[in-house]
Amino acid sequence: MELFVHDSPADVAARTASLIAESIADKSGPFSLGLAGGSSPKPTYDRLREIDVAWQGVHAWLGDERWVPHDSDRSNGRMASDSLFSHVSASLVRPDYGDDPEAAASAYEQELGEIEAMAGRHDIVILGLGDDGHTASLFPGSAALAESDRRYVANRIPETGEIRLTATYPLLHEAARVIFIVTGRSKAEALEASLAGETPAGKVGQGRATVEWHVDRDAASLLS
Ligand code: 6PG
Repeated sequence: MELFVHDSPADVAARTASLIAESIADKSGPFSLGLAGGSSPKPTYDRLREIDVAWQGVHAWLGDERWVPHDSDRSNGRMASDSLFSHVSASLVRPDYGDDPEAAASAYEQELGEIEAMAGRHDIVILGLGDDGHTASLFPGSAALAESDRRYVANRIPETGEIRLTATYPLLHEAARVIFIVTGRSKAEALEASLAGETPAGKVGQGRATVEWHVDRDAASLLS
């Protein structure tokens, strides 16, 4: 696990965008890129639009997705598409939305398996951090935390009852590289606990993946 503290959210975005672009340039052949939702990664996606990247070989997908229609302004897939993927030649694979979240998660798990087989691995997975220590939609106290076999499941958030689709530890632990993007003072307590391995996000580091935390000074304000 490596921690990188940057002066500002803009510096986090600039550095993570260039890391991702460099990684894509360094690999010949298909590249698997898992995307975080929420607001933290959006500046990175915006910066990636300004960089000349060989997008045609990139297969992007969603580390998690809210159970909402594709055109909902709460959709992670819509945010990723609007900010970057509708502007570049990469493919963005999104889960189907319909009557059955479990069936959608299972179908998406199959699609991600095909991407992983084509690329040889999930090259990079971008993740965010909730102020309760969740990442993707692996929320504290939720059933998906205990999933040891399936790589993508429907998960109910205990606090709200909301259903989301999410990658599980079996997927995240097998990725080549995980890049966390964490900014803002509201994340400081969750970051401190995560780096100590005490949150769902912190447990991402228990697998084979190389895990990098790219944070700003506000998020790092409680770290000694
Ligand atoms: C989501 C995300 C979620 C997010 C954290 C942080 O669907 O919202 O996947 O895991 O990364 O909740 O969200 P912010 O970046 O908006 O603070």
